[in-house]
Amino acid sequence: MNAPHVSVLLEPDWAAAALVADVRRGLGSVPRSLPPKWLYDDAGSLLFDRITRLPEYYPTEAERSILATFAPSIAHSCDATTVVELGSGTSDKTRLLLEAFEGAGHLERFVPVDVSEGVMREAAAQIARRHPAIEVEAVVGDFTLHLGHLTRYEHKLVAFLGGTIGNLYVEERAAFLGALSDSMGEGDWLLLGTDLVKEADRLIAAYDDAEGVTEAFVKNSLAVLNRELEADFDPDAFGYVPFWDPRLQRMDLRLRSEVPQRVRIPGAGLDLDLAAGEEIRIEISTKFTRERIASELGAVGLEVAEQWTDGAGDFAVTLARKGVLTPRPEG
Ligand code: SAH
Ligand code: TRP
Repeated sequence: MNAPHVSVLLEPDWAAAALVADVRRGLGSVPRSLPPKWLYDDAGSLLFDRITRLPEYYPTEAERSILATFAPSIAHSCDATTVVELGSGTSDKTRLLLEAFEGAGHLERFVPVDVSEGVMREAAAQIARRHPAIEVEAVVGDFTLHLGHLTRYEHKLVAFLGGTIGNLYVEERAAFLGALSDSMGEGDWLLLGTDLVKEADRLIAAYDDAEGVTEAFVKNSLAVLNRELEADFDPDAFGYVPFWDPRLQRMDLRLRSEVPQRVRIPGAGLDLDLAAGEEIRIEISTKFTRERIASELGAVGLEVAEQWTDGAGDFAVTLARKGVLTPRPEG
């Protein structure tokens, strides 16, 4: 059997050390916030998987329908021999891509990259079983830190799906795109999935489902802090506040302290005094226009080759290419 090779780029105590730094910086200052990568422990990954199947959460099916229709033409346009996937999670929709690339006959390797080690190892093993002819080289790593690892792969397509780029803040997104472009060689490809700006009520429903799965997912971040840093958050003492910020064109997902309370976070050496009504921002989910995607990619030397949306125009998948520098005339 062709077992996946797994590179672990995170230090053994990465979760502990990075979480302490993030909690001190994010929760220890006002406005209070927490970076999104802490949402995806095993319980969080399971909750996210349920979100992708909620009737209100349209992005997953919209992106899947785009890939189902256009994966063969993507595979036909791209000469990539390696498919990298950032924030791969279960790599569920990616199967459509891998099948199309294998069908086109030039796929040699799949490189999933995710911080969530357990989920990714399982997904990588499944893909290795289904595609015995390709190498699976999984990377346990942080796509805001470890893109340099990708320079070893030539002729690659980097897929970044699910609208996950929208979870980065503006400055983080610019830094990420710059590092991503640096990790790509001339002629390498990017396949980027982004949710699009639309009416506020549909956006809010997608992040405030009737079953409360999204609320549980967001509140799971407190359980992560309780477990990893011996904190004493009581999730029931917080309300879930999802809202659409029209100026910054993003969903803003917060937890609001219902009562004045002191939360102890011994693992981070922090006691948090929260006033009644005080909010902690857990995550943003930025929504894009097609023009903004093209201009942000263009700014880092990635030229849009094609852009597809689903039938309803809810979600976009953009194929871009790292600019090929024209060779200087000899002489
Ligand atoms: N691509 C999948 C999963 C999206 S959920 C889909 O489209 O459905 C976001 C994924 O990104 C999770 O698996 C999470 O563990 C991972 N992730 C979040 N922040 C990350 C980071 N900084 N580095 C690497 N992976 C990250
Ligand atoms: N990338 C997904 C998105 O922004 C992640 C996500 C879905 C999410 N639902 C969420 C993040 C709820 C936080 C809370 O749509």
